[in-house]
Amino acid sequence: MAFPNLKVVGIMVVGCVVFTASLGLTQEIPSPPTPPQPMYKSEKIVVAMRAEFSDYKSLVPLMQKFEKETGIRIEHIDYPAVALRDNLITVLATGAPTYDVVLMDIVFIPEFAAAGFIIPLDGSKDPFIAYTKDDLADYFPGCIDAVTYKGHLYAKDYSSDIGMLYYRKDLLSDAGLGGPPTTWDELISYAKKLTKDFNGDGVTDQWGYAFTAKEYEGCLCIFNELVAQAGGSLIDKQGNVTVNEPPAVKALQFMVDLRNKYKVVPPGVVNYTEKDIHTGFINGKFAMARNWPYMWGMCEAPDSPIRGKVGMSKLPRLKQGGSTMGGWFFGIAAGSKRKRAAWELIKYLTSRESSVYMCYKSADIPYRRSFFEDPRVKRDLSWVLPFKDGMKDAVPRPSIPEWGTIKKPLWTEIAKALIGQKTPKQALNDVAEEWKRILSK
Ligand code: GLC
Repeated sequence: MAFPNLKVVGIMVVGCVVFTASLGLTQEIPSPPTPPQPMYKSEKIVVAMRAEFSDYKSLVPLMQKFEKETGIRIEHIDYPAVALRDNLITVLATGAPTYDVVLMDIVFIPEFAAAGFIIPLDGSKDPFIAYTKDDLADYFPGCIDAVTYKGHLYAKDYSSDIGMLYYRKDLLSDAGLGGPPTTWDELISYAKKLTKDFNGDGVTDQWGYAFTAKEYEGCLCIFNELVAQAGGSLIDKQGNVTVNEPPAVKALQFMVDLRNKYKVVPPGVVNYTEKDIHTGFINGKFAMARNWPYMWGMCEAPDSPIRGKVGMSKLPRLKQGGSTMGGWFFGIAAGSKRKRAAWELIKYLTSRESSVYMCYKSADIPYRRSFFEDPRVKRDLSWVLPFKDGMKDAVPRPSIPEWGTIKKPLWTEIAKALIGQKTPKQALNDVAEEWKRILSK
């Protein structure tokens, strides 16, 4: 079981970046760009996507613009993010021509490609449906790795993600703390100082830190990067299961300790998704939080109560830096009867121009070199610039078709450890046993 993505992103170094960033979101939001007239049209295109994320705010106007300019009707079917994979599989497995375009999390790509749910986008299936040379050179290598399965390109990126530490500059300074914490030990000591019961009623009003630990993909992103920071992996480059080795046990112990020993994250993190993180952070319930770049846009929005008070930095390290590589991609369903028109839409939604629009509108960032060179980005959206360097710590989750199956026992066992039902070692030994059974089939 190779681990092709581990070479990761050809995007380099930032040392200890702290970006308190210029406020990028006060500028007038440009209109969606005008798409070129497509060579191939269809009466309509059906897109399966997720609803409740930042990018939805950009994708919908882009699709409306495409519709208006091309006369192709777009029907989008929206799923909650946590239900997207299972719903897509249910439909795609039938091979019926229900969806034309599918939105995929980075981790769906090998699974869907191996199952034959999506088609290659490199001209090998249809010469019209092919990345241009220009695009191939523009996307960062880690992104091209992420969309490649058995030598073919299966998806096209519009939004990249790496985990970041958000912190309230004002609260840190009031507590006599300097810059953001850069190590696990500092994170603990900062979070202890920032966890507060203001009126002495025994109820914590402000938590030092928060992360997503509900039983879903977001929890695994946290665990994956902590394991990398501790110097380990979930599955190594040779395909060996390493999820119960000392670095992984240390990572899970750290999650457990933050909640149960130091009590610096809310006990409710076991039910948290990104929405709970951004809601709590913006409402002042958390002094620090781990989230994706999109939250910057919310923190700095004109009506945000914490605007101008937020800093964003790389995640604290243990043995080394580490940040889970996420992102969202479009593919074409194998059952689609309108593949060429679908490709025309994907090209528009993932174009350089659309990416710049998306960043103005919803603070989403593409894995494109040219984006970071764009004069509009340098002028108005300079808060994104350090990401180009910050991505050097990006660590993919295991890029294997079985990820969709093996992730479930992992999040179940993490939950058991978090609520104290099992020790981290026991929980991860159980995961390893289950993974070996599944992967040996
Ligand atoms: C973000 C990432 C995605 C990850 C998800 C977890 O959307 O881009 O890769 O799986 O968060 O919630």
